[in-house]
Amino acid sequence: MWEKIVFLSLFGISQVFGGYVFSKDFVFGAATASFQIEGAWNESGKSEGCWDHIAHYTNEIDDHSNGDVACDSYHKIDEDIKVLKELGVDSYRFSLSWPRILPEGFSNKVNPDGIRYYNELIDKLLANNITPLVTIYHWDHPQSLQLLGGWTNPRMVEYFADYARVAFEHFGDRVKLWATLNEPKQFCKEMIWGEGKSLGSVALDAVAPYLCAHTLLKAHAKAYHVYKNEFAKQNGKVGLVLDIPWSDPLTNTTKDIEAANRDLEFMFGIYAHPIFAKDGDFPKLVKDRVANMSKLQSFRQSRLPEFTEEEIKEIRGTADFLGINHYSTNYVNDASDEIDVLTPSTDNDVAVKKTVDPSWPASDIFWLYDVPWGFYKALMYVKNYTNNIPVYITENGFCEEALDDQGRIHYLNGYLQSVSDAISEGANILGYYAWSLLDNFEWHRGYTKRFGMFHINYTDPSRPRTARSSVKVYKNIIYNTKLNNL
Ligand code: BGC
Repeated sequence: MWEKIVFLSLFGISQVFGGYVFSKDFVFGAATASFQIEGAWNESGKSEGCWDHIAHYTNEIDDHSNGDVACDSYHKIDEDIKVLKELGVDSYRFSLSWPRILPEGFSNKVNPDGIRYYNELIDKLLANNITPLVTIYHWDHPQSLQLLGGWTNPRMVEYFADYARVAFEHFGDRVKLWATLNEPKQFCKEMIWGEGKSLGSVALDAVAPYLCAHTLLKAHAKAYHVYKNEFAKQNGKVGLVLDIPWSDPLTNTTKDIEAANRDLEFMFGIYAHPIFAKDGDFPKLVKDRVANMSKLQSFRQSRLPEFTEEEIKEIRGTADFLGINHYSTNYVNDASDEIDVLTPSTDNDVAVKKTVDPSWPASDIFWLYDVPWGFYKALMYVKNYTNNIPVYITENGFCEEALDDQGRIHYLNGYLQSVSDAISEGANILGYYAWSLLDNFEWHRGYTKRFGMFHINYTDPSRPRTARSSVKVYKNIIYNTKLNNL
């Protein structure tokens, strides 16, 4: 260990308490997203977003709640800054609400109050030495655009680039870290089509997720080029956020090893390959697989749309950094013999079965376990896949309601250790953002699941923020790291 420390110190990387290895410039942060915390759903010119619509008009939210008030962050900038200060973070990752900034969806009509709100937030962050990392799109587009087909509409590429331009124009003098999109995989596959279940059609289960991926990648690339062509002087960095749950082969048979790799290619590679691989485009494995399945199912073309040569070039290389969201791990085995190949669905295209080890510490949400070694493997996989692009861990966290959140503390320590180990192995990781600063609207789970380091009392109109035990722990890690690096 000490050898490692000496070696790393020579390269300007310092060792701090707890066995972690973080550089002087390593960024510690916390993250949130607009729809999950802001509330003020129809105030001061904001229009209905697609998630307002889902919450108001469907039965998809477990507790039938909505984002009308949420943490009321729209009215509580000072309270949010206060808790960020209490944690002592260097940076805050938040997202912009598209329907708050462009209520009609298009850039011909900008809502001055939307601009005012984010200006105030950014100014106050900076005044408190907290660097903003801004996600332009974290799943809440205006419902008016959903009526035009949402992300299955190829014109979203232009609408998104126009929206991004408005963001760069108004905030880019102060914001230097931009993430265009959050977790396209989750969004395209599960978030806007009713988790695939309630709608259950070929269009939504087997076609829409690929149309969405195709459009989102082009939209991301266009926004990236808008920045580089029109705002290069602002000297910021533009990337995107991908999620990578870790898939570990259940056995070491070739079939299971291939299945785990296939799963990663469909979840992560489908977005990462077009941007980071030398030859760009969707991964060959994904293209071949969907083309073969589509043929078997009597489609005349693959359900996965193709990129033109020009689009491939346009998308390749469009990230100055990669944001990685990671939460949990699964064991994966091959399910090729169990699926009905004639039923078109994205799950059948992947053909894997996932399980967990019952001895892994469980969180309050069914899919999340405390498996730090999976995070380490995911980080090393990302390092190799992207040729070691600079990475920010833009989300990582545990779901636990208890105020004395020992499970979250255990998870935080273990996962930070994995980050530190990956850095020691050469991974280019620049920062870590805990998800989440506050309890918030957890999409289909409503307010039934809590990810916050700060607890929110939703029955109190003033939405008090109360520190959980993990606040002290994270605060100490940040403080000691910075102290030791002086
Ligand atoms: C999303 C967050 C979400 C978190 C926990 C991520 O997929 O970006 O919005 O709250 O996971 O489910």
